Amino acid sequence: MRRVTLTQFLIEQQRAGRIGPDLRLLIEVVARAVKAISVNVSKGALAGVLGEAGTDNVQGEAQKKLDVIANEILLQANEWGGHLAAMASEEVEEVHHIPFDYPKGGFLLLFDPLDGSSNIDVNISVGTIFSVLRCPDTGCEPDEKAFLQPGREQVAAGYALYGPSTLLILTVGNGVHGFTLDREMGSFVYTHPFMTVPVDTQEYAVNASNARYWEPPVQRYVGELQEGKRGPRGKDFNMRWVASMVADVHRILTRGGIFMYPMDEKCRNKGGKLRLMYEANPMAMIVEQAGGKATTGRERILDVQPEKLHQRVPVILGSANEVDLVTRYHLES
Ligand code: AHG
Ligand code: MN
Ligand code: MN
Repeated sequence: MRRVTLTQFLIEQQRAGRIGPDLRLLIEVVARAVKAISVNVSKGALAGVLGEAGTDNVQGEAQKKLDVIANEILLQANEWGGHLAAMASEEVEEVHHIPFDYPKGGFLLLFDPLDGSSNIDVNISVGTIFSVLRCPDTGCEPDEKAFLQPGREQVAAGYALYGPSTLLILTVGNGVHGFTLDREMGSFVYTHPFMTVPVDTQEYAVNASNARYWEPPVQRYVGELQEGKRGPRGKDFNMRWVASMVADVHRILTRGGIFMYPMDEKCRNKGGKLRLMYEANPMAMIVEQAGGKATTGRERILDVQPEKLHQRVPVILGSANEVDLVTRYHLES
């Protein structure tokens, strides 16, 4: 069987005119960083990477050692290639500028270096999420404002899943493509062409311990799922919650489902739990490219006009018919 590597896949995308050389380099560099993060994640206690870093990030969340390591790997890998105008990370409050000794390029890279931090120490899958925007041509050093573009402007988005195998899932606006890391060869192999999210599902993902804080439309929707065969839906639903968005979204990309981190009373003053620019937007682009849908309950995620780099939003995504139903409940209420 002929093995297609990520490098070959990207060159073919470039030849087909879907990406330029700079975007190809950018994705290659992110993939290289992902390999380095994967090595650290999989060594675990042997490399002393488990546990707390002893610091807080911009969101006031305690950082794990791997949050800090993954962030450093991504920043350093992407600084010198000349493809980026600037970067933004969950772990860094301000825009990360490209050091003056390196050339600058036309793209903005945003990332959640380590998603699912609470799962690191218990050896459950974690991930990395990234989003690529074009830098508006301001002629000067890009500031926060340069990043505040709605998700529909993304030119690429992807995630890495550090699970039993390490996967890289990618879209450049032409479907969703998955690659598996061959650890011996050190290369990503094209294993999942044109991934799709089935329109119907019998599986949902939500942190049900927040049920009493949800808004009525979400309580109604989940309540109906839980009534199963005897309720208005007339069928039983299964529930899964990994608490690593990457893993939950990957399951949905593999066999369908709906994922929700909806608005609730606990996170209302922050606008939601998940971050718009480097969690919700890239995942929404991937899910839409795979034929699914992604909304806040009231609005398509990719149409949300960001006001802040670290802005949060409610997230409902996955199988189209389920996302439509829960969105309709929001609009009716
Ligand atoms: P992060 O580790 O980058 O802060 O993200 C964690 C997110 C997401 O991955 C997951 O779906 C959710 O938080 C889990 O939240 P709960 O702990 O409330 O279940
Ligand atoms: Mn995250
Ligand atoms: Mn994170």
